[in-house]
Formats: sequence, C-alpha cells, structure tokens
Amino acid sequence: MSNRLNTTPNDLRAFWMPFTANRQFKKEPRLFVSAKDMYYQTHDGRQVLDGTAGLWCVNAGHCRPKITEAIREQAGELDYAPAFQLGHPKAFELANRLVDIAPEGMDHVLYTNSGSESVETALKVALAYHRVKGNGSRFRLIGRERGYHGVNFGGISVGGIVSNRKMFGTLLTGVDHMPHTHQPGKNAFTRGQPEHGGDLATELERIVTLHDASTIAAVIVEPIAGSTGVLIPPKGYLQKLRELCTKHGILLIFDEVITGFGRLGAPFAAQYYDVKPDMITTAKGLTNGVIPMGAVFVTAEIHDAFMSGPEHMIEFFHGYTYSGNPIACAAALGTLDTYKEEGLLTRAAELSDYWADALHSLKDCPNVIDIRNTGLIGAIELDPIAGEPTKRAFTAFLRAYEKGLLIRTTGDIIALSPPLIIEKHHIDELFGKLREILQSNI
Ligand SMILES: Cc1ncc(COP(=O)(O)O)c(C=O)c1O
Repeated sequence: MSNRLNTTPNDLRAFWMPFTANRQFKKEPRLFVSAKDMYYQTHDGRQVLDGTAGLWCVNAGHCRPKITEAIREQAGELDYAPAFQLGHPKAFELANRLVDIAPEGMDHVLYTNSGSESVETALKVALAYHRVKGNGSRFRLIGRERGYHGVNFGGISVGGIVSNRKMFGTLLTGVDHMPHTHQPGKNAFTRGQPEHGGDLATELERIVTLHDASTIAAVIVEPIAGSTGVLIPPKGYLQKLRELCTKHGILLIFDEVITGFGRLGAPFAAQYYDVKPDMITTAKGLTNGVIPMGAVFVTAEIHDAFMSGPEHMIEFFHGYTYSGNPIACAAALGTLDTYKEEGLLTRAAELSDYWADALHSLKDCPNVIDIRNTGLIGAIELDPIAGEPTKRAFTAFLRAYEKGLLIRTTGDIIALSPPLIIEKHHIDELFGKLREILQSNI
C-alpha cells in the first residue's frame, strides 16, 4: 500500500521492462514522447533519427496518416468481433491482400498478435499437418544455432540464442539444431551474400540420418538471422535447405518477422532469394508496428489437408481471442495501402547500393571486425572489450542516443534497419554520426 501511495505518473519502478537493463535504464531513462516519419522526439526535447525502424517494424516511418486514420475510423465503427465462429469483412479483405503480395502458392493466412505467436502457430500447423496426412510420427522440429524465433516455448526451443534458452528448463523435446552460418574468418566485410558456408545446409542431411526423416516435421530458419546480429545466408544455402526438405518430406518454414514487408527490396525474403518455403511467419511490418499483429502464410496444400471430416467440426484447434482483431486489420490495410502508394516494398532495392557504400565506409573505424549488409539491413561487428562482452556496443548505443541516433545492439554487433522511407541525406546523417561514435574511443 505504501508503495502505491508513493507512485507518481513519472515513477519508473513498477514496469519491469522487456529485454532491458532495467537498473541502468531507470538511472538514465530514455523516453520517446512522439515520432514523425524518420525521427523520434525524446522527453528532453531532442530529435533522434530512427536507424532501426523501432524494432525492425516501422517500415513506413512513424505516424503515417493512412494508418492513423484507419485505426481511428475502425475504433469508432467496429471495435471487436469474436474471432471464433464469427468474422468481420476486414479480416477477409486483409487476408486476400496479403496473399496477393506473398510468394505464389501461399494462399492462406492465419492471424496472430506477434512474431512469437506466429512461430508457435506455424510449428503447431506443421505437427498437425503431418498428423492429418497420416504421418503422426513426424514430431521433430529442427531450428538453427543463433536463430531467434520469439520468446515462447516453441520459439525458444527451436531458437538458438543461449541466453534466451538457458533459464527455462527442458523446453520442447524432439528438437535439434543445425549449425549457424557465421564464418567471419572467411566472409568478413562481404557485401550481400557470403561466398562461404552454403554447404552448411547439408548438416540437415546429417540430422536426418541421425533421427530418420520419418520423425521430422519441419525445419524453421530466418532467411536472414536478425536478432543474433544479422547473418546473411551464404550463397546456395537456402536453396540447398529447400532441396533437402523437399527430398525428405519435411516442411520448410521461413521466419520472416523482420525480413517480411520490404526489408530486402521484395515483399518477402522468399521472393528476394527465390526460394519457396511451405510457411512464412510474419508480424512487425504487417501493421507498421503500430498495433500488435502477426500472420502465418501457408500453402494451399497445407490448408487443404485440414479441410476434411464433418463440415460442422472445427478443423484446427488453435487461435487467439485477438486473431484478426478489427482495429489491427484496419491498421494492416492502412499499412499495405501506404506501402503500395509509396512503392515501399521494393524501395530497399533502389537504395541498397547507396546504403551499402555508406555502411562499408566505416571499415577503417577502430574495433570494427566485420560489416555485412543486404537490402536496407546493415551490421557492424565490434571487437569485444576483453572480459566485458557487449559493453563496447552498448556504449555505442548510449552515445548514439545522446547524439540523436537510434541504433540496436546485440552482443557486440550494431544492427541497422531504418524505415524504408529513408532518404539519402538520412543515410549520410546516420553513418556520419556512427563514424563519430566509433571514433570516440568506445
Ligand atoms: C525472426 C523473428 N521471429 C520472431 C520474433 C518475435 O516477434 P515478437 O517480438 O513480435 O514476438 C522476432 C522478433 O524480433 C524475430 O526477429
């Protein structure tokens, strides 16, 4: 009770912040109070250039009128409709619009509220699919070291980032992992896809030999591993994975929570790399990050396999209270309109050379041991301070914030993924500031 009496609107204690150094933050708070297009405004009145599209999600830039208006209108017209056994028009309209921009054959969409839920949904679809096809022995799920698939139990089980897994017990059973593809010794400072490491996909063959294909339901990978610090797929890698999955009857899931919606210069990485998975998980850019929403794309083959049995029966026992929430659907439709009108789903392709030149120009800065890029994604890997891993990059993050630039760091890697509305002068501003920071003895 006394605690409550002491609580004022600006008291930071109650909120246990996600993926945050809470004690450090609460000593030196960093609060955004408004945003427009490429910039945030801080509580102390400064502008901060958004070098990360929020958390890889604000692809159309901030507070875009079409999206804001769509939400406002929808909130006054139909606020909620039950998601089970009932619907509303925008959920269907959105699914059709999404299927239109998805790789050919991805004909159906399930809605979720986040990337983590999209992953859980896709893994469950994979297990259930094999079961309805009479292959219930296919229960294993294969992920990859350094993979990030959200924070729920399925996602951290197939994921491969140790700190996200080690505290949480046994996780899902029946999971195995392929090796990651990071080979800095061979591929450092590569622009686009690395030359070396494509053959690592054949590790899947080893895993299949170990467990037998008849026990494996699905392989899940991020086409570009983002959260672990931007690992671009080596040449031939994704194609080989596809080939092996097809050969062994294993479903291939691309987790496109960050690569979806234009990040690489095509709507999805599957199109950019010309490799067709059986499912694609998305969230983030679907609504420009404005309202929580995710979507899982599945092929007609997967969807149709469930459409049997008595017609009054539910075909797939899964879903969320907020699956296809009307306001989220309106936000997504406003987002897709904005992407279309401004050509944002392909804009990264036009800017990627300019972006890559600016990014790789930082090669001569102190402590930079690798730089990598594709589309409007960039990463700068720093040499860790001996005995203090992550500190150098975190210092860069704090200095950048002071200088009016938002970057993201993971381990000792700086990851960049600006809104797709970025202009060349913003790119100059971003890398100009970053150069100063990297040269400032961090
Ligand atoms: C590839 C990938 N999958 C899943 C997620 C989880 O998404 P969310 O934080 O919306 O649950 C993320 C988040 O960064 C992601 O990058």
